[in-house]
Amino acid sequence: MGNRQRALENLVLNTFWKNKRVLLTGHTGFKGSWMSLWLHQMGAEVYGYALKPDTKPSLFDQLQLEQKILHRIGDICEAETLAAYVTEIKADFVFHLAAQSLVLRSYRETLNTWNTNVMGTAHLLEALRKVAHPCTVVVVTTDKVYQNHESDHAYTETDSLGGIDPYSASKAGTELVVGSYRSLFAQENLPITLASARAGNVIGGGDWCENRLLPDIARALMQGKSIETRNPSAVRPWQHVLEPLSGYMMLAQMMTTDKTLAAAYNFGPEPRDNRTVEDVIETALKTWPGVYHANVDAAAPHEAGLLKLAIGKAQTKLGWQPKWNFETAVANTMIWYKEAAAGRAALDITRDQIKAYEVA
Ligand SMILES: NC(=O)c1ccc[n+]([C@@H]2O[C@H](COP(=O)([O-])OP(=O)(O)OC[C@H]3O[C@@H](n4cnc5c(N)ncnc54)[C@H](O)[C@@H]3O)[C@@H](O)[C@H]2O)c1
Repeated sequence: MGNRQRALENLVLNTFWKNKRVLLTGHTGFKGSWMSLWLHQMGAEVYGYALKPDTKPSLFDQLQLEQKILHRIGDICEAETLAAYVTEIKADFVFHLAAQSLVLRSYRETLNTWNTNVMGTAHLLEALRKVAHPCTVVVVTTDKVYQNHESDHAYTETDSLGGIDPYSASKAGTELVVGSYRSLFAQENLPITLASARAGNVIGGGDWCENRLLPDIARALMQGKSIETRNPSAVRPWQHVLEPLSGYMMLAQMMTTDKTLAAAYNFGPEPRDNRTVEDVIETALKTWPGVYHANVDAAAPHEAGLLKLAIGKAQTKLGWQPKWNFETAVANTMIWYKEAAAGRAALDITRDQIKAYEVA
Protein backbone atom coordinates (compact mmCIF):
# COMPACT_ATOMS: atom_id res chain seq x y z
CA MET A 1 0.00 0.00 0.00
CA GLY A 2 1.44 3.43 -0.99
CA ASN A 3 1.94 6.30 1.47
CA ARG A 4 -0.87 8.28 -0.10
CA GLN A 5 -3.37 5.46 0.17
CA ARG A 6 -2.29 4.74 3.75
CA ALA A 7 -2.66 8.38 4.75
CA LEU A 8 -6.11 8.51 3.26
CA GLU A 9 -7.24 5.38 5.06
CA ASN A 10 -5.78 6.50 8.37
CA LEU A 11 -7.55 9.81 8.11
CA VAL A 12 -10.84 8.09 7.38
CA LEU A 13 -10.34 5.56 10.15
CA ASN A 14 -9.29 8.30 12.58
CA THR A 15 -6.43 6.15 13.82
CA PHE A 16 -3.34 8.16 12.98
CA TRP A 17 -3.97 11.00 15.44
CA LYS A 18 -4.68 8.82 18.45
CA ASN A 19 -2.35 9.77 21.33
CA LYS A 20 -0.33 12.19 19.19
CA ARG A 21 0.84 15.33 21.01
CA VAL A 22 -0.37 18.24 18.94
CA LEU A 23 0.32 21.92 19.57
CA LEU A 24 -2.21 24.15 17.89
CA THR A 25 -1.65 27.90 17.91
CA GLY A 26 -4.78 29.96 17.32
CA HIS A 27 -6.99 27.30 18.91
CA THR A 28 -9.42 29.94 20.24
CA GLY A 29 -10.28 31.17 16.72
CA PHE A 30 -12.72 29.91 14.12
CA LYS A 31 -10.55 27.33 12.34
CA GLY A 32 -8.58 26.49 15.47
CA SER A 33 -11.77 25.61 17.36
CA TRP A 34 -13.00 23.25 14.61
CA MET A 35 -9.54 21.68 14.43
CA SER A 36 -9.21 21.30 18.21
CA LEU A 37 -12.52 19.46 18.38
CA TRP A 38 -11.73 17.25 15.39
CA LEU A 39 -8.28 16.29 16.67
CA HIS A 40 -9.66 15.72 20.17
CA GLN A 41 -12.36 13.42 18.74
CA MET A 42 -9.66 11.46 16.90
CA GLY A 43 -7.86 10.85 20.19
CA ALA A 44 -5.03 13.40 19.91
CA GLU A 45 -3.67 15.18 22.97
CA VAL A 46 -4.37 18.74 21.95
CA TYR A 47 -2.43 21.68 23.43
CA GLY A 48 -3.47 25.18 22.44
CA TYR A 49 -1.68 28.52 22.54
CA ALA A 50 -3.55 31.72 21.59
CA LEU A 51 -5.13 34.89 22.87
CA LYS A 52 -8.50 34.76 24.61
CA PRO A 53 -11.44 34.38 22.22
CA ASP A 54 -12.26 37.90 21.03
CA THR A 55 -15.71 37.39 19.54
CA LYS A 56 -19.07 37.11 21.28
CA PRO A 57 -20.21 34.40 20.97
CA SER A 58 -17.04 32.41 20.39
CA LEU A 59 -16.84 28.96 18.88
CA PHE A 60 -14.20 28.02 21.47
CA ASP A 61 -16.81 28.51 24.22
CA GLN A 62 -19.66 27.05 22.20
CA LEU A 63 -17.70 23.80 21.68
CA GLN A 64 -16.75 23.70 25.38
CA LEU A 65 -13.11 23.27 24.43
CA GLU A 66 -11.95 24.45 27.85
CA GLN A 67 -13.02 21.05 29.16
CA LYS A 68 -11.61 19.04 26.24
CA ILE A 69 -8.10 20.27 25.56
CA LEU A 70 -5.15 21.66 27.52
CA HIS A 71 -4.21 25.19 26.63
CA ARG A 72 -2.40 28.38 27.50
CA ILE A 73 -3.68 31.86 26.85
CA GLY A 74 -0.68 33.82 25.60
CA ASP A 75 0.67 36.13 22.93
CA ILE A 76 2.92 34.65 20.22
CA CYS A 77 4.74 37.96 20.15
CA GLU A 78 5.93 37.27 23.71
CA ALA A 79 8.87 35.10 22.69
CA GLU A 80 9.83 33.87 26.16
CA THR A 81 6.34 32.84 27.23
CA LEU A 82 5.81 31.04 23.94
CA ALA A 83 9.22 29.32 24.10
CA ALA A 84 8.51 28.13 27.66
CA TYR A 85 5.25 26.53 26.52
CA VAL A 86 6.84 24.94 23.43
CA THR A 87 9.58 23.52 25.67
CA GLU A 88 7.05 22.21 28.18
CA ILE A 89 4.83 20.53 25.58
CA LYS A 90 7.42 19.03 23.20
CA ALA A 91 4.76 18.33 20.62
CA ASP A 92 5.08 15.74 17.84
CA PHE A 93 3.00 17.99 15.57
CA VAL A 94 2.55 21.73 15.43
CA PHE A 95 -0.18 23.50 13.47
CA HIS A 96 0.42 27.25 13.47
CA LEU A 97 -2.88 29.04 12.91
CA ALA A 98 -2.50 32.03 15.23
CA ALA A 99 -2.63 35.24 13.24
CA GLN A 100 -4.25 38.60 12.88
CA SER A 101 -6.51 37.14 10.20
CA LEU A 102 -8.69 40.02 9.00
CA VAL A 103 -7.97 42.18 5.95
CA LEU A 104 -9.92 45.26 7.06
CA ARG A 105 -8.55 45.12 10.60
CA SER A 106 -5.03 44.95 9.11
CA TYR A 107 -5.54 48.51 7.85
CA ARG A 108 -6.39 49.65 11.38
CA GLU A 109 -3.90 47.46 13.26
CA THR A 110 -1.12 47.44 10.73
CA LEU A 111 1.89 47.00 13.01
CA ASN A 112 0.09 44.42 15.12
CA THR A 113 -0.64 42.48 11.92
CA TRP A 114 2.99 42.50 10.81
CA ASN A 115 4.20 41.68 14.29
CA THR A 116 1.78 38.81 14.88
CA ASN A 117 1.94 37.26 11.43
CA VAL A 118 5.63 37.62 10.69
CA MET A 119 7.46 37.91 14.02
CA GLY A 120 4.97 35.62 15.77
CA THR A 121 5.80 32.89 13.26
CA ALA A 122 9.53 33.55 13.66
CA HIS A 123 9.22 33.31 17.46
CA LEU A 124 7.44 29.96 17.15
CA LEU A 125 9.98 28.50 14.72
CA GLU A 126 12.87 29.82 16.81
CA ALA A 127 11.38 28.19 19.91
CA LEU A 128 11.09 24.88 18.03
CA ARG A 129 14.70 25.27 16.86
CA LYS A 130 15.92 25.70 20.45
CA VAL A 131 13.95 22.72 21.74
CA ALA A 132 15.09 20.57 18.79
CA HIS A 133 12.46 17.96 19.61
CA PRO A 134 11.51 15.87 16.53
CA CYS A 135 8.31 17.30 15.12
CA THR A 136 6.29 18.01 12.01
CA VAL A 137 5.09 21.57 11.53
CA VAL A 138 2.42 23.07 9.28
CA VAL A 139 2.29 26.88 9.14
CA VAL A 140 -1.05 28.16 7.90
CA THR A 141 -0.93 31.12 5.56
CA THR A 142 -3.53 31.98 2.89
CA ASP A 143 -4.45 32.21 -0.79
CA LYS A 144 -3.80 35.94 -0.44
CA VAL A 145 0.00 35.46 -0.30
CA TYR A 146 0.25 35.69 -4.08
CA GLN A 147 0.98 38.86 -6.00
CA ASN A 148 -2.54 39.43 -7.32
CA HIS A 149 -2.78 40.41 -10.98
CA GLU A 150 -6.60 40.51 -10.95
CA SER A 151 -6.53 38.02 -13.83
CA ASP A 152 -8.31 34.74 -14.42
CA HIS A 153 -5.11 32.87 -13.59
CA ALA A 154 -5.41 30.35 -10.76
CA TYR A 155 -2.32 30.82 -8.57
CA THR A 156 0.08 27.91 -8.19
CA GLU A 157 2.69 27.46 -5.48
CA THR A 158 5.50 28.73 -7.75
CA ASP A 159 3.81 32.07 -8.46
CA SER A 160 5.33 35.23 -6.98
CA LEU A 161 4.45 36.20 -3.45
CA GLY A 162 3.06 39.69 -2.88
CA GLY A 163 0.11 41.44 -1.28
CA ILE A 164 -1.21 45.01 -1.22
CA ASP A 165 -3.20 45.11 2.00
CA PRO A 166 -1.19 44.60 5.20
CA TYR A 167 -2.78 41.22 5.95
CA SER A 168 -1.89 39.70 2.57
CA ALA A 169 1.60 41.21 2.54
CA SER A 170 2.28 40.04 6.10
CA LYS A 171 1.25 36.50 5.19
CA ALA A 172 3.59 36.60 2.19
CA GLY A 173 6.19 37.59 4.81
CA THR A 174 5.19 34.55 6.87
CA GLU A 175 6.00 32.40 3.84
CA LEU A 176 9.49 33.91 3.62
CA VAL A 177 10.05 33.17 7.30
CA VAL A 178 8.98 29.56 6.75
CA GLY A 179 11.22 29.11 3.69
CA SER A 180 14.22 30.50 5.55
CA TYR A 181 13.67 28.38 8.69
CA ARG A 182 13.23 25.25 6.54
CA SER A 183 16.74 25.79 5.13
CA LEU A 184 18.07 26.61 8.58
CA PHE A 185 16.63 23.41 10.11
CA ALA A 186 18.21 21.41 7.27
CA GLN A 187 21.61 23.12 7.68
CA GLU A 188 21.57 22.41 11.40
CA ASN A 189 20.35 18.82 10.91
CA LEU A 190 17.38 19.44 13.17
CA PRO A 191 14.63 16.80 13.17
CA ILE A 192 11.93 19.32 12.25
CA THR A 193 9.89 18.99 9.07
CA LEU A 194 8.24 22.22 8.02
CA ALA A 195 5.56 23.00 5.43
CA SER A 196 3.16 25.85 4.74
CA ALA A 197 -0.48 25.63 3.73
CA ARG A 198 -2.29 28.30 1.69
CA ALA A 199 -6.03 27.87 2.02
CA GLY A 200 -8.80 29.62 0.11
CA ASN A 201 -11.67 31.58 1.64
CA VAL A 202 -12.91 29.43 4.44
CA ILE A 203 -16.54 29.25 5.48
CA GLY A 204 -18.34 27.24 8.13
CA GLY A 205 -20.62 27.58 11.12
CA GLY A 206 -19.30 29.20 14.25
CA ASP A 207 -17.23 31.89 12.53
CA TRP A 208 -18.15 35.05 14.45
CA CYS A 209 -15.38 37.33 13.09
CA GLU A 210 -16.20 40.90 12.03
CA ASN A 211 -16.52 41.83 8.34
CA ARG A 212 -16.52 38.28 7.03
CA LEU A 213 -19.22 37.37 4.56
CA LEU A 214 -20.91 34.34 6.12
CA PRO A 215 -20.91 35.66 9.69
CA ASP A 216 -22.31 38.95 8.35
CA ILE A 217 -25.08 37.04 6.52
CA ALA A 218 -25.89 34.98 9.60
CA ARG A 219 -25.94 38.03 11.90
CA ALA A 220 -28.26 39.92 9.51
CA LEU A 221 -30.64 36.96 9.22
CA MET A 222 -30.70 36.39 12.98
CA GLN A 223 -31.62 40.04 13.51
CA GLY A 224 -34.16 40.05 10.65
CA LYS A 225 -32.13 42.72 8.82
CA SER A 226 -31.20 43.04 5.18
CA ILE A 227 -27.80 41.63 4.15
CA GLU A 228 -25.47 44.40 2.96
CA THR A 229 -22.51 43.42 0.84
CA ARG A 230 -19.41 45.48 0.03
CA ASN A 231 -18.22 43.71 -3.06
CA PRO A 232 -20.83 41.48 -4.79
CA SER A 233 -18.76 40.67 -7.87
CA ALA A 234 -15.55 39.69 -6.04
CA VAL A 235 -14.51 36.11 -6.86
CA ARG A 236 -13.02 33.87 -4.16
CA PRO A 237 -12.08 30.20 -3.77
CA TRP A 238 -14.75 29.33 -1.17
CA GLN A 239 -14.42 26.11 0.80
CA HIS A 240 -15.84 24.60 3.96
CA VAL A 241 -13.52 24.82 6.97
CA LEU A 242 -13.22 21.02 7.19
CA GLU A 243 -11.55 20.95 3.75
CA PRO A 244 -8.33 22.84 4.56
CA LEU A 245 -8.22 21.27 8.02
CA SER A 246 -8.25 17.81 6.44
CA GLY A 247 -5.50 19.06 4.10
CA TYR A 248 -3.33 20.35 6.97
CA MET A 249 -3.67 17.04 8.83
CA MET A 250 -3.02 14.96 5.74
CA LEU A 251 0.06 17.00 4.88
CA ALA A 252 1.45 16.63 8.41
CA GLN A 253 0.69 12.93 8.49
CA MET A 254 2.35 12.26 5.14
CA MET A 255 5.43 14.30 5.99
CA THR A 256 6.17 11.87 8.83
CA THR A 257 6.99 9.18 6.26
CA ASP A 258 8.13 11.37 3.36
CA LYS A 259 10.10 14.44 4.39
CA THR A 260 10.53 15.53 0.77
CA LEU A 261 6.92 16.66 0.91
CA ALA A 262 7.93 19.60 3.13
CA ALA A 263 6.97 22.55 0.92
CA ALA A 264 4.09 24.96 0.28
CA TYR A 265 0.64 23.66 -0.73
CA ASN A 266 -2.55 25.35 -1.86
CA PHE A 267 -5.80 23.96 -0.45
CA GLY A 268 -8.85 25.24 -2.25
CA PRO A 269 -12.00 24.14 -4.05
CA GLU A 270 -12.42 22.71 -7.54
CA PRO A 271 -12.20 25.43 -10.24
CA ARG A 272 -15.99 25.59 -10.70
CA ASP A 273 -16.31 26.62 -7.04
CA ASN A 274 -14.33 29.86 -7.45
CA ARG A 275 -17.49 31.94 -7.17
CA THR A 276 -18.68 35.49 -6.58
CA VAL A 277 -19.84 36.99 -3.30
CA GLU A 278 -23.29 37.34 -4.85
CA ASP A 279 -23.36 33.58 -5.61
CA VAL A 280 -22.59 32.92 -1.95
CA ILE A 281 -25.44 35.14 -0.77
CA GLU A 282 -27.97 33.70 -3.22
CA THR A 283 -26.98 30.15 -2.27
CA ALA A 284 -27.11 30.97 1.45
CA LEU A 285 -30.61 32.40 1.10
CA LYS A 286 -31.84 29.06 -0.30
CA THR A 287 -31.20 27.53 3.15
CA TRP A 288 -32.25 30.56 5.18
CA PRO A 289 -34.40 33.02 3.17
CA GLY A 290 -33.94 36.78 3.58
CA VAL A 291 -33.18 39.94 1.60
CA TYR A 292 -29.95 41.59 0.55
CA HIS A 293 -28.65 44.82 -1.00
CA ALA A 294 -25.42 45.29 -2.88
CA ASN A 295 -23.85 48.28 -1.17
CA VAL A 296 -20.68 48.98 -3.14
CA ASP A 297 -18.42 51.39 -1.28
CA ALA A 298 -15.94 52.98 -3.70
CA ALA A 299 -14.02 54.53 -0.81
CA ALA A 300 -13.46 51.20 0.97
CA PRO A 301 -9.85 50.06 1.49
CA HIS A 302 -8.40 47.87 -1.25
CA GLU A 303 -9.35 44.18 -1.31
CA ALA A 304 -8.56 41.80 -4.18
CA GLY A 305 -11.38 41.50 -6.72
CA LEU A 306 -10.45 38.23 -8.41
CA LEU A 307 -8.67 35.41 -6.67
CA LYS A 308 -8.43 31.79 -7.84
CA LEU A 309 -6.29 29.01 -6.47
CA ALA A 310 -4.85 25.96 -8.29
CA ILE A 311 -4.91 22.84 -6.13
CA GLY A 312 -3.19 20.33 -8.45
CA LYS A 313 -0.11 20.00 -6.22
CA ALA A 314 -2.08 18.89 -3.14
CA GLN A 315 -4.12 16.55 -5.31
CA THR A 316 -1.12 14.90 -6.97
CA LYS A 317 1.44 14.89 -4.17
CA LEU A 318 -0.86 14.24 -1.22
CA GLY A 319 -3.90 12.64 -2.84
CA TRP A 320 -5.97 15.33 -1.08
CA GLN A 321 -9.32 16.15 -2.65
CA PRO A 322 -12.11 18.59 -1.74
CA LYS A 323 -15.18 16.64 -0.63
CA TRP A 324 -17.97 19.21 -0.37
CA ASN A 325 -18.77 21.37 -3.40
CA PHE A 326 -19.76 25.03 -3.16
CA GLU A 327 -23.49 24.38 -2.68
CA THR A 328 -22.90 21.79 0.06
CA ALA A 329 -20.33 23.99 1.82
CA VAL A 330 -22.63 27.03 1.86
CA ALA A 331 -25.69 24.95 2.80
CA ASN A 332 -23.88 23.28 5.72
CA THR A 333 -22.64 26.65 6.92
CA MET A 334 -26.12 28.14 6.89
CA ILE A 335 -27.65 25.03 8.48
CA TRP A 336 -25.13 25.42 11.32
CA TYR A 337 -26.12 29.05 11.98
CA LYS A 338 -29.83 28.40 11.54
CA GLU A 339 -29.89 25.43 13.92
CA ALA A 340 -27.75 27.26 16.48
CA ALA A 341 -30.10 30.27 16.25
CA ALA A 342 -33.00 27.89 16.88
CA GLY A 343 -31.34 26.73 20.11
CA ARG A 344 -29.60 23.49 19.08
CA ALA A 345 -26.26 22.94 20.83
CA ALA A 346 -23.36 24.11 18.65
CA LEU A 347 -21.33 21.12 19.81
CA ASP A 348 -23.93 18.68 18.42
CA ILE A 349 -24.20 20.52 15.10
CA THR A 350 -20.41 20.63 14.73
CA ARG A 351 -20.01 16.95 15.62
CA ASP A 352 -22.69 15.98 13.09
CA GLN A 353 -20.97 17.97 10.36
CA ILE A 354 -17.56 16.45 11.13
CA LYS A 355 -19.16 13.00 10.97
CA ALA A 356 -20.84 13.80 7.64
CA TYR A 357 -17.55 15.08 6.24
CA GLU A 358 -15.68 11.96 7.37
CA VAL A 359 -18.28 9.80 5.66
CA ALA A 360 -17.96 11.90 2.46
N1 LIG B 1 -10.86 32.17 7.71
C1 LIG B 1 -10.36 32.21 6.48
O1 LIG B 1 -11.08 32.43 5.49
C2 LIG B 1 -8.91 31.93 6.25
C3 LIG B 1 -8.48 31.67 4.95
C4 LIG B 1 -7.13 31.39 4.72
C5 LIG B 1 -6.24 31.36 5.77
N2 LIG B 1 -6.67 31.65 7.03
C6 LIG B 1 -5.68 31.59 8.12
O2 LIG B 1 -6.05 30.55 9.00
C7 LIG B 1 -5.67 30.88 10.34
C8 LIG B 1 -6.88 30.82 11.26
O3 LIG B 1 -7.87 31.70 10.76
P1 LIG B 1 -9.24 31.93 11.52
O4 LIG B 1 -10.26 32.23 10.49
O5 LIG B 1 -9.48 30.82 12.48
O6 LIG B 1 -8.90 33.28 12.32
P2 LIG B 1 -9.47 33.81 13.72
O7 LIG B 1 -9.25 35.28 13.69
O8 LIG B 1 -10.80 33.28 14.00
O9 LIG B 1 -8.46 33.18 14.79
C9 LIG B 1 -7.17 33.69 14.97
C10 LIG B 1 -6.50 32.97 16.13
O10 LIG B 1 -5.19 33.52 16.28
C11 LIG B 1 -5.04 33.94 17.63
N3 LIG B 1 -4.13 35.08 17.71
C12 LIG B 1 -4.24 36.29 17.08
N4 LIG B 1 -3.23 37.09 17.46
C13 LIG B 1 -2.48 36.37 18.35
C14 LIG B 1 -1.32 36.64 19.10
N5 LIG B 1 -0.69 37.83 19.02
N6 LIG B 1 -0.86 35.69 19.93
C15 LIG B 1 -1.47 34.49 20.03
N7 LIG B 1 -2.57 34.17 19.34
C16 LIG B 1 -3.07 35.10 18.52
C17 LIG B 1 -6.43 34.31 18.11
O11 LIG B 1 -6.47 34.31 19.53
C18 LIG B 1 -7.23 33.19 17.47
O12 LIG B 1 -7.11 32.04 18.24
C19 LIG B 1 -5.02 32.26 10.26
O13 LIG B 1 -3.63 32.08 10.15
C20 LIG B 1 -5.59 32.84 8.98
O14 LIG B 1 -4.74 33.81 8.43
C21 LIG B 1 -8.00 31.91 7.30
